[in-house]
Amino acid sequence: MPDIDPSRLSLERKAALLSGQDFWSTRPVQDAGLPSVVLTDGPHGVRRQVGEFDHMGIYESLPSTCFPPAVAVGSSWDPEVAARIGAAVGREARALGVHVVLGPGVNIKRSPLCGRNFEYYSEDPLLSGHLGAAHVRGQQEQGVGASVKHFAVNNQETDRMRVSADVDERTLREIYLPAFEHIVTEAAPATVMAAYNKVNGVHAAQNRWLLTEVLRDEWGFTGAVVSDWGAVHDPVASVRAGLDLEMPGPSPENARRIVDAVRDGELDECVVDMAVRRIVALAGLAAEQPDETDGSPEFYGSPESYGSDELVGFDADAHHRLARELAAECAVLLRNEDNTLPLASARRIAVIGEFAATPRYQAGGSSHLNPARLDNALDAIRESAAAHGSTVEFAPGFTLDGSGDAVALREAAVAAARSSDVAVVFAGLAESAESEGFDRDDLCLPAVQVELIRAVAAEAARTVVVLSNGGIVSLEGWHDEVDAILEGFLLGQGGGGALADLLFGEANPSGRLAETIPLRLEDNPSFANFPGEHGHVRYGEGVMVGYRWYGTTGAPVRYPFGHGLSYTTFAVGDLAVASTGVDSARVSLTVTNTGARAGKHVVQVYVATEAGPVRRPARELRAFAKVRLAPGESRTIGFDLGRRAFAHYDVQDGGWAVAPGEYLVQIGENAAAVIAEAAVSLAGDAVAQELTLESTFGEWIAHPVIGATLLQELTAALPDDQGSQLGDRPELLQAVRDVPMKRVVGLVEGDALDRTLERLMERTRVVRRP
Ligand code: BGC
Repeated sequence: MPDIDPSRLSLERKAALLSGQDFWSTRPVQDAGLPSVVLTDGPHGVRRQVGEFDHMGIYESLPSTCFPPAVAVGSSWDPEVAARIGAAVGREARALGVHVVLGPGVNIKRSPLCGRNFEYYSEDPLLSGHLGAAHVRGQQEQGVGASVKHFAVNNQETDRMRVSADVDERTLREIYLPAFEHIVTEAAPATVMAAYNKVNGVHAAQNRWLLTEVLRDEWGFTGAVVSDWGAVHDPVASVRAGLDLEMPGPSPENARRIVDAVRDGELDECVVDMAVRRIVALAGLAAEQPDETDGSPEFYGSPESYGSDELVGFDADAHHRLARELAAECAVLLRNEDNTLPLASARRIAVIGEFAATPRYQAGGSSHLNPARLDNALDAIRESAAAHGSTVEFAPGFTLDGSGDAVALREAAVAAARSSDVAVVFAGLAESAESEGFDRDDLCLPAVQVELIRAVAAEAARTVVVLSNGGIVSLEGWHDEVDAILEGFLLGQGGGGALADLLFGEANPSGRLAETIPLRLEDNPSFANFPGEHGHVRYGEGVMVGYRWYGTTGAPVRYPFGHGLSYTTFAVGDLAVASTGVDSARVSLTVTNTGARAGKHVVQVYVATEAGPVRRPARELRAFAKVRLAPGESRTIGFDLGRRAFAHYDVQDGGWAVAPGEYLVQIGENAAAVIAEAAVSLAGDAVAQELTLESTFGEWIAHPVIGATLLQELTAALPDDQGSQLGDRPELLQAVRDVPMKRVVGLVEGDALDRTLERLMERTRVVRRP
């Protein structure tokens, strides 16, 4: 670990350290033995550029394994999948001389239109946080730092470098920050990446509340805060807010501004020193990592050879097998009428759709990799079909760029479907349809594909649709006409093989939706407020994001959050819930594989309550586990639900609160289907709100400490005629419910009531909650 005392460096050298030496690395201090740290994208593979540099995935990068992107990992609902990807990315990073891989991305999928949803896990913060933490742990165990991004509230690409995400604090705390919080507190990432956008009017990269008060002071983050590439606008404000490293670099002009600010007394030098210390600490990753590249650029081969098989430093075949195995954990079987899948008994298979031959497996932008290997589903299906003694006929059905004779392509596909036992249509979005940098306008599949699916379904004995898309697509207009739908999202370079494994039953589907598929885009809760206007996007739906909204309003959806089928069946029983304290509970249940195949079930634990003073979503995911079971096997699973599983964020008190009351622990087949539930009563926080004369009459009456005695004392304090009226006319109490107590006092003669209230107020000044 380099040991550098900032006070021994000149202010100029320190300021220079606060931005990179180039596009992908930090500035070394050779005479002090401080190495340069190489940071690169991420997240589902290593995008190591050694020729020309960019952050939009334009220029070539060295070959590396393209693992399933976050959209797929989210659907695996399996932290082990995330951890194994993190570990493999870490191994490749070491081999490629990288010290920090930029990821995972854990922003919430607020709108299905967000162009980067493929890079994010879920619409739910708990699922995102657990998967993100597992990825970080896996990667960092290899000695390679992570950069959790994009902190925070970066939920759209439209106007992404300027837009202000205007969000109330409860929504921030309950929806947009918890994934970051969980990862920071549980997995200690080496860095956090500050987002491009503003949060409530202040750029994330110069937002002191976010970068210092919340991230460091509350969550205890000790790593370095890195800017997103080009996110720094005012370097002095950024450093003051808690940003340590501006990327990319170098930024001599910004270094000069920092020096001037210190000299002019606008910026305390010790703030600069703190940032330098964190960058020095980060350099520990480089100091501890032996340079497996020998420091020689030739080690990587020439840019011309990137696409070839001249791979270095990691076992590309083993990682490819891993990519295929993990991809099979991620796909979601949405529909499977009459057990159309697996295909084992189909003798003649028509494979239709260009995506079978030209896989769609990753998306555009900074995460775009140069895959070391690449499967396509068609070859893998041919291989499996041969093993099953089946035949395969392929028809592209459409072209990806819209060229060619659409009618002729469709007719050829329909002819193939007609002479098959089953038609498998590979549909989806072309890479040009979604990417970092822009949002989509709708959820539609290209019309030519919808027409193809319908035409095939009308003629084929059975129709299976396999989807490849980074953001969800609408299934309307064709859903009911097909027998099975396998949603692959983007599965990485092993996706083609994984899809064949799933179609033939070599692997049993176990993915679950990490986001809702609505019937209409208009049903999405962010619809009226996305992507905003005049530089602001208002998060008007508050905490009612995704399934929280659909569950609360009861609006029908096509497939709910958490939905996914299997080739086997599961039963859940013996649900027991018991409180383990005033604000915690233990849940246990038994899961049984009641079918004939081994498979994995995702146990989803939701909590529903009306306790407390805030409007709660109908139910919220509070724990989950993916369990593998052999046919007939049963297992008892336990969950400890801590305080946060029951808490809401109390903006008045500025903290988490557990309201006393009843909480339903619900086991969901998905977010819309509760299969077992049990109630638990929690004493919650003993602390009650402190009353003042600004508190309403209703708040006084409802107060757990003095509420019960208030009426008695009030009646006693009032002149006789007023006192008796209170008892006889309950509507009087109702009418003054929302009136501040100081106004009620004004209605009463004399000062007896003032004295009573003074005394009662004193009794409400009690201990705060934990
Ligand atoms: C993206 C980041 C990425 C960075 C470096 C930015 O455009 O928002 O996610 O890590 O570029 O490529």
